[in-house]
Amino acid sequence: MTDSRERRARAKISFAVNGEPKTVHVYPMERLLDVLRQKLQLTGTKEGCGEGECGSCAVLMDGILVNSCLVPVLQAAGSSVVTIEGLAPGQTLHVLQEAFLECGGAQCGICTPGMILAAVHLLNGTPGPTLEEIREGLSGNLCRCTGYSQIVEAVERAVHPRTTA
Ligand code: FES
Ligand code: FES
Repeated sequence: MTDSRERRARAKISFAVNGEPKTVHVYPMERLLDVLRQKLQLTGTKEGCGEGECGSCAVLMDGILVNSCLVPVLQAAGSSVVTIEGLAPGQTLHVLQEAFLECGGAQCGICTPGMILAAVHLLNGTPGPTLEEIREGLSGNLCRCTGYSQIVEAVERAVHPRTTA
């Protein structure tokens, strides 16, 4: 493809990321995951399987948990995306990030951003989840390291900071 044809194949796509308006000049079918990591330098979002199976690349798009490896960036046009970087824009960690640290819910860390965003999504819809609801809410996210118990404990800690401390 010549340079000019290649330029024409790209499109300007605008959406909000972590509350900030962004415009990227990209191929419409590029994966949202790649645009976040490579064009916007938001490398907190991780790639695990690249096939929609593991949840490592999960972000919130208009409040819905999506696997960004399966989302063409065109689909994000006009939306509001939240990545792990958007949870704690200042120096203070989000309560879930604190709880993951306290409970050892993060080991290699590949699953952690997606896992935390899945937990945010769960708590947005179900503020006081039961153990079963926590397990169900995180069931789309795979972890090779922790055996899940520390992760579930971290979400419980975030929900009931005093009773489970
Ligand atoms: S990297 Fe997207 S679901 Fe595994
Ligand atoms: S901490 Fe390594 S995959 Fe979950």
